[in-house]
Amino acid sequence: MTLTGEAKVAGVIGWPVAHSKSPRLHGYWLAQYGVDGAYVPLPVRPDDLPAAVRALPKLGFQGANVTVPHKAAVAELCDDLEPHAQRLGVVNTLICTGDGVRGANTDGLGFLNNLFHGAPDWRPENAPAVVLGAGGAARAVVVALLDAGAHEVRVLNRTRAKAESLAQEFGERVRVFAWGDWADAFPGAGLLVNTTSLGMTGQPALSVDLTPLPRRALVNDIVYKPLETDLLATARARGNPAVDGLGMLLYQAVPGFQAWFGVRPEVTDDLRARMLAD
Ligand code: ATR
Repeated sequence: MTLTGEAKVAGVIGWPVAHSKSPRLHGYWLAQYGVDGAYVPLPVRPDDLPAAVRALPKLGFQGANVTVPHKAAVAELCDDLEPHAQRLGVVNTLICTGDGVRGANTDGLGFLNNLFHGAPDWRPENAPAVVLGAGGAARAVVVALLDAGAHEVRVLNRTRAKAESLAQEFGERVRVFAWGDWADAFPGAGLLVNTTSLGMTGQPALSVDLTPLPRRALVNDIVYKPLETDLLATARARGNPAVDGLGMLLYQAVPGFQAWFGVRPEVTDDLRARMLAD
């Protein structure tokens, strides 16, 4: 649709930002809903981040997404943080409010909504969750699971100290197991999530022995390149339900689009196909 002088503008702040899928995603929805609006890549060097964030409301932006490497630094620059973003200390969505900027984090919600849509019978409170990894993505996943009512989240990470620090920060419902200790971590689990980069195209394989995992446990990989990772394929082959990682990217974008452009967008099969097209 042709833009008018009243077009609403948002974007994604990153460095580099060319790899970001967000312009394609939001661009799809803008066209789909006939919104008089634009969503643009905003390459911002780390040194320029404070000035760029301050400029957003002055330039009339509705807000922006924030991606690597700025997600933690930007939390310090917001005038106000939503409680979930405050708890994580990490922001992926900025909403301009008058003269200020409010920070939110929608990654955890995107993760949960992906599972709720992909596996409607899954309930976070029903059985322990197992999380592989303890990096930035794992933090969002662990907190989302705890906030959604999980009684126990078992974290396994190559660098054990990072898993320990998650447990220290988020309390005794987080239990730490050694990386590779599938035999102790998997029994009784209702969910297994890979948040590491292992299994991603160009990265080393993720080698996990699923034998001790109950067959009813849901398996999810936040890696979506390839869409069907070895973990998901192995899980499905032994009868586990499995949900791929693309939905997390799509669902995390819903609240931002709604706040900026005033329409609650839908995640559809057509959108998934467009996001996977080269
Ligand atoms: P993100 O923000 O995407 O989570 P990250 O913070 O760099 O990225 O975290 C990457 C995760 O993948 C970490 O849990 C990392 O384990 P370490 O904390 O030990 O680094 C995990 N990871 C990366 N390469 C790995 C490998 N070869 N074996 C096991 N875990 C690996």
